[in-house]
Amino acid sequence: MKVLITGGAGFIGSNFIRYAMRAHGEWMIVNVDKLTYAGNLANLAEVAGNPRYRFHRADICDAEAVGRIFSEELPDAVINFAAETHVDRSIDDPSMFLKTNILGTQVLMEAARKCGVARFLQISTDEVYGSLGATGRFSEDSPLRPNSPYAASKTAADLLVRAYFKTYGLPTLVTRCSNNYGSYQFPEKIIPFFVTLLHEGKPVPVYGDGMNVRDWIHVDDHSRAVDAVLLRGRPGQVYNVGGGNERTNIEITKLLLGAMGKDESHMRFVPDRPGHDRRYAIDDTKIRTELDVVPQIPFKEGLDATVRWYLENEAWWRAVKSGEYQTFYDRWYKDRQNRDVP
Ligand code: NAD
Ligand code: TYD
Repeated sequence: MKVLITGGAGFIGSNFIRYAMRAHGEWMIVNVDKLTYAGNLANLAEVAGNPRYRFHRADICDAEAVGRIFSEELPDAVINFAAETHVDRSIDDPSMFLKTNILGTQVLMEAARKCGVARFLQISTDEVYGSLGATGRFSEDSPLRPNSPYAASKTAADLLVRAYFKTYGLPTLVTRCSNNYGSYQFPEKIIPFFVTLLHEGKPVPVYGDGMNVRDWIHVDDHSRAVDAVLLRGRPGQVYNVGGGNERTNIEITKLLLGAMGKDESHMRFVPDRPGHDRRYAIDDTKIRTELDVVPQIPFKEGLDATVRWYLENEAWWRAVKSGEYQTFYDRWYKDRQNRDVP
């Protein structure tokens, strides 16, 4: 089976590629990534030389480039991880979010339709459901009420995916997962951001009253869920993926302070994010009962391992923070050209 993955140089896409290369010895993986600020080929160093892996640098909004890659590769399945993903950036400037997350998804589905792929899996988010009060959980039938430009763009993409299934019969699947944590996450998201700040002896900025709740899942558990939905999900269906692990931002901050041996003087309350969703909580009954998918990594264990990973891989996040990682592609490309010369 040949699986085309978009956004494979990002946090979750690269985790999925590393996982799938180990789990499926018969898969060929084609990674299509534009390498925006969030794409980092260093995340894929362990698979780069594998003959079952190929990389194309391309923008998913570029219909010509995408069409060329699809007709060259003829994938059996597509998983679309590529997106602009940071809520704060979407508040500063929504335009790229609309382009990549909506138009890019449509361009990919068009190419997938023409090429007759057997599965098209859209990686979505629980943020499409909006915000909860103190009680209740999101099910797949909850109304879509996005509050940030990021969430609105992901919701629009989900609706287009639905339309391509209904109108053209494209065999689509959608996963809506809660907040991921783990290694190789870009240090703009709260957990790696706070760990790297604390390591540098700086205070961490907690938005508002810090009582916003997120449901945290380890990225390895997300990858296992994506794999199950790709192989066994029913076309046209949406599957929620959750960690069953709700935490306030203050709890997360205190756990990180403890893990880093710092006291609460390192915690600063700062003005709230506009439109800040109060609480996300996932009802994952459908994926549990239909596909037997259950998160396996206990939160405390996963969080400690994640903190350790950032401390042991300082060179990785220093390169990211300094922008040096963006030269990785140039070096990779030059190496490849040198190799290609007979
Ligand atoms: P990320 O920001 O770490 O990575 C995004 C990747 O997409 C990068 O490699 C980037 O270069 C690539 N990309 C961006 N625009 C592109 C374009 N126009 N063409 C080709 N490639 C492009 O994101 P992530 O956290 O790994 O998230 C991956 C997916 O999972 C996204 O669709 C996101 O909405 C979804 N998701 C994320 C979370 C989370 O907690 N991080 C939770 C649920 C769902
Ligand atoms: P984030 O990691 O940006 O993910 P998302 O907004 O997609 O849930 O933020 C997680 C939570 O942490 C969210 O409630 C916002 C909060 N947060 C802070 O309090 N301070 C920060 O510096 C950041 C980046 C996030």
